[in-house]
Amino acid sequence: MAEETPRGELICDVDDISVKQALRVLIDDYPVAVVKDSQGVIHALGDTCSHADISLSEGDVEGESIECWGHGSQFDLRNGQPLQLPAYEPVPVFAVEIHGNQVYVDVTNVTNGAPAPDLA
Ligand code: FES
Repeated sequence: MAEETPRGELICDVDDISVKQALRVLIDDYPVAVVKDSQGVIHALGDTCSHADISLSEGDVEGESIECWGHGSQFDLRNGQPLQLPAYEPVPVFAVEIHGNQVYVDVTNVTNGAPAPDLA
């Protein structure tokens, strides 16, 4: 049986992402935080906090959330929703595919209903 062609951009190997530290990547000049949660599931979110211009990938990963160091809002990695103020709008969550040991992210496929990024 033919293997399916991965959708999205090849980002890295699964093992390149630590549970403690998100990986920041640029896809078509758009910053994305690629995060492995405590269960080993990999997520991809818009890297810019919805409250202000702070990189979420610089924050701590805890369980299934990532904390913005700016003002402490945590975002659910599964749906991009802020779990407390001051952020109140979600960040986009993108489709992730794992093929073999490789991680692909498709920034044209927003899975949580947040506005799609304006790509270059
Ligand atoms: S900049 Fe992220 S919570 Fe304020």
